[in-house]
Amino acid sequence: MENIEKIKEEIRSLLSSVSSLKELRDIKSKYLGSKGVVKELLKKIKEVPPELRREYGKKVNELKEFAEKLFREKEEELKRRELEEKLKGEWVDLTVPPERVVGSLHPITITLERIKEIFKGMGFEVEEGPEIELEEYNFDLLNIPKEHPARDMQDTFYVNKEGYLLRTHTSPVQIRTMLKKKPPIQMIAPGKVYRRDDDPTHSPMFHQVEGLVVNEYANFRHMKYVIEEFLRRFFETDLPVRFRTSYFPFTEPSAEVDIGCVICNQEGCRVCKETGWLEVMGCGMVHPKVLENCGIDTEIYQGFAFGMGVERLAMLLYGIDNIKLFYENDLRFIRQFF
Ligand code: DAH
Repeated sequence: MENIEKIKEEIRSLLSSVSSLKELRDIKSKYLGSKGVVKELLKKIKEVPPELRREYGKKVNELKEFAEKLFREKEEELKRRELEEKLKGEWVDLTVPPERVVGSLHPITITLERIKEIFKGMGFEVEEGPEIELEEYNFDLLNIPKEHPARDMQDTFYVNKEGYLLRTHTSPVQIRTMLKKKPPIQMIAPGKVYRRDDDPTHSPMFHQVEGLVVNEYANFRHMKYVIEEFLRRFFETDLPVRFRTSYFPFTEPSAEVDIGCVICNQEGCRVCKETGWLEVMGCGMVHPKVLENCGIDTEIYQGFAFGMGVERLAMLLYGIDNIKLFYENDLRFIRQFF
C-alpha cells in the first residue's frame, strides 16, 4: 500500500516532463493499459491477507482514478499547446499591403455593373433567365411568328433537343417574369445572347440588358424618360438622344434609340458612318398579344420594354473600335479598365 503512494508520485513527476502526445500515450499505457501497473496491482489482490483486501482494493481504485484524471488533464493541455503552435505557424498578417494586385474586372463586367446600378437606382429589380431557352419563349410568346426572318437558321443557334435554342436576345426573360410575377413589374434582365454573326462589330456571343415595366399607367413618355435618364447617367453627359420609328414584333409602337456620336460629337466620322448618330437600343410599348400570352389583362395593364447591347455601350463609353478585343483576353487590354 505504501507502494501505491509511491506510484502516484512517480506518475506526477513523469507527467511534469512530458512534452508530446505520443510520449503521453506511451506512459499512459504503461500505467493504465491492459498489461499496465494498475491491472497488475489489481491481480495481486489474491496475495493480500483477506482482512486488508477491502482497503487494498479501495487504494488501487483511487490510484486508477487519480491517474486517469492526471492523464486527461495533461492530454488536454498538450492538445491546446499543439493547436496554439500550429496557429502561430499559420498566422497571416491581413494588414500587410499586397505587393501587386492580381487580376482586374473585365470591361464588360464593369459595364454590366454600371448599367445594373443605374437601373437599381431607378427602382428596377434584376431578373435572370437561362441561355439555353425554349423556342416558345424566345419566339412564339414574343409574337415572332414561325415565318419571321429572325427565326432563320442563319441567325439562330439551335441545340440538338427539339424546342430549345441558344437565346438570341434577352427578351424571353420578359416572358418568364410575366409568367412568374403579377404586375406591377419593373425589371431588367442582363445576360449573354447568341447569334450566328461574326465580323468586326458582331460576335456570336454578346451581352444584352432587357428592361420591362408593366403597370396600370405605363406610357411612351415614361419610357422616353427612363431611357433618356439612363443614357445621361451612363455617359455622364447631357447627350443628344432621338427616338426613331421602328418595328419589333413584340412592341407596338416600336422605336430605336440613337445618341449623338460620342466619338466625333456629331461632326460625322467612320464610327457613325458620317450620320452623327449611333443606335444604342430598341424599345416600345409591349404588344397586347405578348401581355395576353402571359395571362396579363390588357384592359387593366400596359407596359413598355427596351433592350440594349452591352458591348456597343461599352465600346462607346471607352472608345473601343473592335468588339473582338473583349473576347481575346489580352491582359494589356483588360488591365486598362477599373
Ligand atoms: N430583342 C431585341 C433585339 O435583340 C431588342 C429589343 C427591342 C428589346 C425592343 C425590347 C424591345 O425589349 O422593346 O434586337
